[in-house]
Amino acid sequence: MVKVGVNWTRGVHLPLIQQMVGGRVADFVEVLIDNFLHVEPRAMAEALDGVPVAFHIMHSRFMERGPEDLAFMAGRIRALARELKPIYISDHLLRFSIEGRELIYLPELDYGPAYDGARRAVLAWQDRLESRVLFENYPSVFDAGHEQPAFLESLLRDTGAGLLFDISNAVCAQRNCGLSLSAWDRLVRDTEHFHVAGYEPSTEPPFVTLDMHGTNLADDTLAYTEHALRVAWHPSTISVERDNNVELEPWSADLSAVRRLAELSVSQRPGRLEERAHAP
Ligand SMILES: [Fe+2]
Repeated sequence: MVKVGVNWTRGVHLPLIQQMVGGRVADFVEVLIDNFLHVEPRAMAEALDGVPVAFHIMHSRFMERGPEDLAFMAGRIRALARELKPIYISDHLLRFSIEGRELIYLPELDYGPAYDGARRAVLAWQDRLESRVLFENYPSVFDAGHEQPAFLESLLRDTGAGLLFDISNAVCAQRNCGLSLSAWDRLVRDTEHFHVAGYEPSTEPPFVTLDMHGTNLADDTLAYTEHALRVAWHPSTISVERDNNVELEPWSADLSAVRRLAELSVSQRPGRLEERAHAP
């Protein structure tokens, strides 16, 4: 069965998260772990009370930060992982600064030139965390986004890292730069862990679609969710992310819709397994 989860980003949302898990709306909690590095692992375990968890890292800046800071952060994450035993640890491939200038809007990598540095940094970050790490695909805005699937295929092959496939990020990339959803099929086939969220149009130029996590899932996102969960050989989790308008009713409605699609994908599983036996 595919586990359907919620993301937990701030301590103040704990009662809502507990309510969703207690009411069986959510099966697991993906914790934005860099917001909880100061919390003692035992206290985290008590707050989550045995609920399955995954770790999502937003601001490790593992390609930019110095070794001392990374060692400290990795030590905290390892201690939390020992206590909470996350289903996976995931992170982002992003740029946080360019030539010392801090960026507000975090752009995607300059894929070609960035490859060797990214490969070395991913290997080192996985060593520090003593874990395989899943990396999330980016909601591309510009034409460079067309390079992303091939970049990720090479990176995962060369580092042993995995993909955390954000379904709505792929929809945003399609809407913004025309990257075909089918460009992801080969990667999605081997993906176990997924994200999905609501997007919104930007209010300032360039007028693009932004993965804002504050609205309900759009029809094209739901249609592609059904496709992705059917294409994947072994879908295991899907986290429905919400960072704005964090309210029980609309969030629960999205989880129910995603759960129906996940159950549909399971009902089609025997055919998929047979298909796999004949796949090249
Ligand atoms: Fe995501």
